[in-house]
Amino acid sequence: MENTGVERVKSGIEGFDEVLKGGVPRRDIVLLTGSTGSGKTTLAMQFLAHGAKIGESGIYFTLEENPNDMVTWFSVFDPSIRSLIASGRLKVVSVPLTDYETFKSLVSAEIDAMSAQRVVIDSVTYLQMFFSDIMSIRKAIMELSTMLKSKEVATFIIGEIPYGENKLSSFGVEEFASDGVIALYLVEKQDTFIRALRVVKMRGTEHLTKFCPLEITPKGIVIYPNAELFTEMT
Ligand SMILES: Nc1ncnc2c1ncn2[C@@H]1O[C@H](COP(=O)(O)OP(=O)(O)OP(=O)(O)O)[C@@H](O)[C@H]1O
Ligand SMILES: [Mg+2]
Repeated sequence: MENTGVERVKSGIEGFDEVLKGGVPRRDIVLLTGSTGSGKTTLAMQFLAHGAKIGESGIYFTLEENPNDMVTWFSVFDPSIRSLIASGRLKVVSVPLTDYETFKSLVSAEIDAMSAQRVVIDSVTYLQMFFSDIMSIRKAIMELSTMLKSKEVATFIIGEIPYGENKLSSFGVEEFASDGVIALYLVEKQDTFIRALRVVKMRGTEHLTKFCPLEITPKGIVIYPNAELFTEMT
């Protein structure tokens, strides 16, 4: 059953909105965390692409990948990505690793210029390039969160955690600066691994708490809220 209290944005990702009982709350900042290759970028791009298709413009700020390369590999999942970009409802912006103030101003200006309703920042881990101590990084993340909150956009902040580590963030503050935390996992199983997603927290809404199996299919990420991790995915 869907929650009716909070306004939601639909992800367009099969199974995902069901996990969140209706979608991401419209003005929330969600930390999307996981180890390398767990599917963070794919999920976040799908979220923006779907938004663009239903008239909600979105921006992907990347601090690590080349935007052209990203568009090329994502077009394998969704060839409409190029026309969505051409339409002006989807933008992939490369953030120069100069200094934090420049980064924050760029994010703010781009959101305003596009009247974006969906935003992705990939990844918050790269913010450490701007600082020499952990307290400054934490302060910057809190500031970024406050700025994004004032824009009233649905945001995915991507965080990276080393494979096998049982924590949610690099700097120990990202999860507190976010309204929600969604973690992606690579779970070892015999000689391979299986993928999973779990909502760790989502303020103000009911959500599933179980590990949900996740697959990367030719059309992108699919989540199976009703399947069990170790039985039905064999
Ligand atoms: N066409 C495809 N079909 C199935 N799986 C794919 C396909 N293309 C990529 N993958 C899988 O998706 C993974 C990459 O996912 P993605 O880039 O979204 O992860 P990520 O969490 O953003 O990683 P990183 O931390 O490196 O940025 C690849 O490592 C691969 O396992
Ligand atoms: Mg990525």
